[in-house]
Amino acid sequence: MHLTPEEQSMLAGEQGKADQKAMQILETLGRIYGADRMLPVSSVQISGVSYDNLGDAGLEWLSEMAEGGGRARVLTTLNPAGMDIENWDRLGIPPEFAEKQHRVIDAFARMGVITTCTCTPYLAGNTPSFGEPIAWAESSAVCYANSVIGARTNREGGPGALAASLTGRTPEYGMHLDDNRQPGMTIDVQAQLSDTADFGALGKAIGERLESLGRKAIPYITGIDSASMEQLKSFCASIATYGGLPMFHMQGVTPEAGDHTPPTDRITIAAADLDSARQSLIDASPDEVDFVSLGCPHLSIDEVARIADLLRGKRVVKEFWITTSRPVKALADQMGYAAIIEASGAKFAVDTCCVVAPIRGRFHAMSTDSAKACYYAYSKNKFRTRLLDFDQVVREAVGEG
Ligand code: F3S
Repeated sequence: MHLTPEEQSMLAGEQGKADQKAMQILETLGRIYGADRMLPVSSVQISGVSYDNLGDAGLEWLSEMAEGGGRARVLTTLNPAGMDIENWDRLGIPPEFAEKQHRVIDAFARMGVITTCTCTPYLAGNTPSFGEPIAWAESSAVCYANSVIGARTNREGGPGALAASLTGRTPEYGMHLDDNRQPGMTIDVQAQLSDTADFGALGKAIGERLESLGRKAIPYITGIDSASMEQLKSFCASIATYGGLPMFHMQGVTPEAGDHTPPTDRITIAAADLDSARQSLIDASPDEVDFVSLGCPHLSIDEVARIADLLRGKRVVKEFWITTSRPVKALADQMGYAAIIEASGAKFAVDTCCVVAPIRGRFHAMSTDSAKACYYAYSKNKFRTRLLDFDQVVREAVGEG
């Protein structure tokens, strides 16, 4: 693997211990995946931020990197943490957990990382442009970056993403190469989709169909005339979860779709497939639901405004978490949306989400519009789920479901 003099200097430890460790990680990854060289990156998003996932070993490693002089060389933000960094006690997070989570955030801050914790960095100031090599870690954000923005990123692990931040480099393999961005299967969607929940169900239907065929092909999706940013982020989260896919093309919607012709290998997703994907994520009755959450992936300001509109003058009757990034929450404060939402008894869970927060055992059944959140609610927290349209979720929170 060819390394520039600057990269060799990092590897030799001439620029500090942390940079040396970081370059060792990247050089190893590059060798494993057959990269010829490193690429400069302009943006990094780091996962493995929740203390729930990191544990003491992860915290120790981050502290060592910070003490070893590690310093972000490029714009870097974080994936959601295990709690709202400011209002963790209102969400019932234990103080011992909060103390450890604060130490994790402090370690990143000492390295010059912007401690905005979000899986929608593209809505919070970490927004790359078309064609840019970047190093992002969260699967839904990776899929959004590759597919919707047209930036180029592999799905980095936590250490690989931190290493990219400290060196400003990533090895050139996988989604950085044109050949690996070619579509391999046409997915003809013959169904009407309107809500974010529909797009989540579509991601599940496509992901599971490809898995059942044993195909890891990048889908070329036809039959969808338009999709909003919110619908696309829901779809990205779902197809990454259920199909493990880092990218798709959507004819007439995503920027690289026009560079390709639809592959001859083709499958159809009909309305019945979509319906069955939705139904498969409903195994609780409205009465059983004791937890409601919107914001997987983190909400846009438009979605927060919609929630405020639906909650104005009402009271929630269930624990209702609204998960978003701190910059979007600041905008919601400024616009008065947050005041309306909080007056209803709903809670903002900023910097975190219903999957990475340590809430196992606290609830039994959850309503959400997110197919991805349903997957983890069941697999991580053993909650039963109700996948509903966005507005229906709010109605269920106020007892009008
Ligand atoms: Fe984001 Fe948490 Fe969902 S990280 S995509 S809100 S599982």
